[in-house]
Amino acid sequence: MSDRKGIILAGGSGTRLFPLTLVMSKQLMPVYDKPMIYYPLWALMLANVREILVISTPHDLPHFRNLLGDGSQWGLSFDYAEQPFPGGLAQAFHIGDDFLDNSPAVLVLGDNLFYGQEFALTMATAAERHHLATIFGYHVSNPEAYGVVELDETGKAVSLQEKPTQPKSSFAVPGIYFFPADVCRRAKTLQPSKRGELEITDLNRLYLESGELFVELLGRGTAWLDAGTMDSLLDAGNFVHIIEKRQGQKIGCPEELALNKGWISPRELKMSIEKLGNSSYGQYLESLLP
Ligand code: G1P
Repeated sequence: MSDRKGIILAGGSGTRLFPLTLVMSKQLMPVYDKPMIYYPLWALMLANVREILVISTPHDLPHFRNLLGDGSQWGLSFDYAEQPFPGGLAQAFHIGDDFLDNSPAVLVLGDNLFYGQEFALTMATAAERHHLATIFGYHVSNPEAYGVVELDETGKAVSLQEKPTQPKSSFAVPGIYFFPADVCRRAKTLQPSKRGELEITDLNRLYLESGELFVELLGRGTAWLDAGTMDSLLDAGNFVHIIEKRQGQKIGCPEELALNKGWISPRELKMSIEKLGNSSYGQYLESLLP
């Protein structure tokens, strides 16, 4: 089992989803049949990470606490911390310093959704790579909207850019990042960017420059979606709906994964089912009982 700890960053302004996000964080909104935050949580569970810090705004943190509780219903343990203002993704390592306590870390953004045959193995392998940072590259049609990684002909990363107007490649960097135990120390050396934020791309660049960055390309068989705009939120919901309807199996169901990993017993699953009442989600969990 990994001693790596996880952080889900569910803060930020969410301005691209206004006026919805004036009421609540986008990560509390549903992507089809479950809250958005379940999907990045699922990715952490696939990486065998069980101690997780949820960071959100002072306004929304109580809602996340109500939704997720202490994590024991999924064999996990949750802590919560406020992000006082949207100061960039690398701010998570200032806020999470005490929680991480010099453990290797994985940061996932609360609006990122991953799915694919090999994704579980990719997560578990990255979690075991203790002395390097691991980030991913994913071919997209609009790299200018993301962090972008440029690779040489041998597949080695040579540059990182944040939302470049002239991207040097079509490989966007998805919002899941594995770091060694020194990540908080390194994050504290960062200066705010022109937009006043501690950029995750600047943190990744520190590891690139010291030769400690491993970049793995996620292939065509993996889906990476984010749900940060009205269009991408709808696309993500449609994607989950189509796959779940066709297969009769859920994407991003923490109860199912916890049961499969042996982190909860069928008896504990039954307790969750009772709380969920006669919902379709509850009925699905019912079908998982032996
Ligand atoms: C952030 C990061 C960007 C990354 C993206 C992934 O951008 O700054 O490097 O590619 O997440 O979702 P945001 O979408 O928060 O603007």
